[in-house]
Amino acid sequence: MDSILVTGNGPLNGQIPIAGAKNACLTLMPATLLSDEPLTLTNAPRLSDIRTMTMLLQSLGAEVSTMAEGQVLALSSHGTVTPHADYDIVRKMRASNLVLGPLLARLGHAVVSLPGGCAIGARPMDIHITALEALGAEIELKDGYLHATTQGGLKGGVHEMRFASVGATENFVMAATLAKGTSVLKNAAREPEIVDLVHCLRKMGAQIEGEGTSEITIQGVDRLGGATHAVVTDRIELGTYMLAPAICGGKVELLGGRRALLSAFCDKLEEAGVEIAETDAGLVVAHKTGRVRAVDVVTEPYPGFPTDLQAQMMALMCTAEGTASLEETIFENRFMHAPELTRMGAQIEVQGGTAKVTGVERLKGARVMATDLRASVSLILAGLAAEGETTVSRVYHLDRGYEQVVRKFAGVGAKVERIKED
Ligand code: EPZ
Repeated sequence: MDSILVTGNGPLNGQIPIAGAKNACLTLMPATLLSDEPLTLTNAPRLSDIRTMTMLLQSLGAEVSTMAEGQVLALSSHGTVTPHADYDIVRKMRASNLVLGPLLARLGHAVVSLPGGCAIGARPMDIHITALEALGAEIELKDGYLHATTQGGLKGGVHEMRFASVGATENFVMAATLAKGTSVLKNAAREPEIVDLVHCLRKMGAQIEGEGTSEITIQGVDRLGGATHAVVTDRIELGTYMLAPAICGGKVELLGGRRALLSAFCDKLEEAGVEIAETDAGLVVAHKTGRVRAVDVVTEPYPGFPTDLQAQMMALMCTAEGTASLEETIFENRFMHAPELTRMGAQIEVQGGTAKVTGVERLKGARVMATDLRASVSLILAGLAAEGETTVSRVYHLDRGYEQVVRKFAGVGAKVERIKED
């Protein structure tokens, strides 16, 4: 398994291009199952999760090909689509559950493996199930698979989710586009990736209103056509790289970044003393050398502070002046980066869903281990500011969500290299 070697190297300067959003692309791709016409996605990120979704869709009978070095995905499911999403693929990536809604809409039945837990939590499917049952689906669990059927196809329905689940919102909206009648989803998630999905579905002929609010209304149609759609900028990759000049000092322009994608996160960074300016090309983040101020963070569904940036923000707080409290309210086990940061000299006390971080003058390089996608990059950020060398092992986690990470960090002056290990 490869590792990444990071050597603290002072302030960073230059530009970093931000890719298309992994979490938008992972819900846009299954939308091809809703139509027998071609769906073309541009600005697609080159990530292992995208390759996993490609394999899953191909296993269901869809055609998926990549062009422009992987930045363009050509999808089509004009042929026979089969309903069985196998455990061997689904267990690799929870987002595989996003084929459930489209399969039900296209075929009237689906057999989708439960994803199983993952490092950051149990991640059940109850909210997806009750949401799709509100559209007339009958879903039962057998041998680790969800067996979903409908009598005579999906019918429009009104449903209020107990929690604003991102994936359940996406499954409900995709299924409802072809249901008979009108559907209303209340307490819907509001993430920009959901807004991007709706923009694409609308190009395919769907009739949807309210995306980005907590109430989405969908008028079912008989069929959907094809579309060409550019994947929205990845706000989590954006926020991750914004933290690099914050933790090392310097000035970096994040190309393609827009403040509107990350306003709560930007407010917190400015509260910590980091300067953020929006230009035509993106976001410029600057911090004179020296420590930022400690700030308190509570993760919330969008538009609150994103849980997917909690680990990265913790790395910054490890070197801040003062004590910060980071409360994780979305997942039950998303502090696995804390013991690894402690190995670098960080002072972190985890109690239940809250981590108290007392900043230190300087972290010390160490051998650390990535435990999940976002934790892996928080360790790299810590290594950028640490004295000496940090080796982050198990970087396959990183490849799931960050394309060309060495090149992007090195491009602004960071000393980062990938160590190939067989
Ligand atoms: C999406 O996951 C993202 N993944 C996650 O990003 C992100 O952390 C999460 O939303 C929250 O923002 C993709 O978009 C592919 P949820 P999702 O359903 O849809 C519980 C990353 O790093 N829950 O909003 O799975 C669940 O256990 C990944 O890119 C139920 O209890 O998130 C969790 O505690 C990590 N029952 C909370 O809700 C359900 O049926 C949020 O889950 C569904 C969810």
